[in-house]
Amino acid sequence: LRLFSGSANLGLSQEVARYLGMDLGPMIRKRFADGELYVQIQESIRGCDVYLIQPTCQPVNDHLMELLIMIDACRRASARQITAVIPYYGYARADRKTAGRESITAKLVANLITQAGASRILAMDLHAAQIQGYFDIPFDHVYGSPVILDYLQSKGLHDIVVVSPDVGGVARARAFAKKLNDAPLAIIDKRRQAHNVAEVLNVIGDVKGKTAILVDDMIDTGGTIAEGARLLREEGASQVYACATHAVFSPPAIERLSSGVFEEVIVTNTIPIPEDNYFPQLVVRSVA
Ligand code: R5P
Repeated sequence: LRLFSGSANLGLSQEVARYLGMDLGPMIRKRFADGELYVQIQESIRGCDVYLIQPTCQPVNDHLMELLIMIDACRRASARQITAVIPYYGYARADRKTAGRESITAKLVANLITQAGASRILAMDLHAAQIQGYFDIPFDHVYGSPVILDYLQSKGLHDIVVVSPDVGGVARARAFAKKLNDAPLAIIDKRRQAHNVAEVLNVIGDVKGKTAILVDDMIDTGGTIAEGARLLREEGASQVYACATHAVFSPPAIERLSSGVFEEVIVTNTIPIPEDNYFPQLVVRSVA
């Protein structure tokens, strides 16, 4: 078994290697003057089971291309099996056509990864679980919720309501609530009454006086979760926690998340968080 890391999240790869009691394999990665990438595996991997760890987080296209080149290099070096470990799957939100003449980019990415030579995929908290079906190779879909739930349980919170920030996330929130002693569930329902009229948010469920735990797969610009929190406070929630596996944190997420509306924002390290993006309410749990 050999483990190699792309450049997207070296910290997580090192933690995984430490956990397994092995070293990351030697690999050269270079960028040419014109921006092209170069990868060379620096030891024989002939006949080996190779694991390549690379979340395709920002800059998504670079990290995806690097993963494809790593897979191709391993295939051409006669690896027996190549598992692409993709803790965060970029383009997962482009999982279907919502208008004519659009790409289903999550499927395109699946084609590219398969075509490059991956024999297996391991991914975490896909935005849409059906993305597994975009691949015709074995796929392990794992969840970040156990490490987040462990942390929440250790806090001994009372009078909890688990909240899905949109209708699409209800199954995820329900599973979360079940693990928190079958806590009640609330859902934020977004409606647009007409074109060019701002969305109206409603809370379905009782949050008054409760500790609300908003659960999402990712926080990108923070708009969804911050709006949800504001509404929950308006509806009388006493405290609001936010939980998400993937800390995408595109601007202005940090401003939104650190505005004081959250007791804590609990995420995992599928995506590295630059030091500058830390704020007092942020809790990062490791998925290694
Ligand atoms: C949407 O369906 C996703 O589950 C997230 O709620 C969304 O992508 C988060 O994006 P943002 O933080 O920019 O609102």
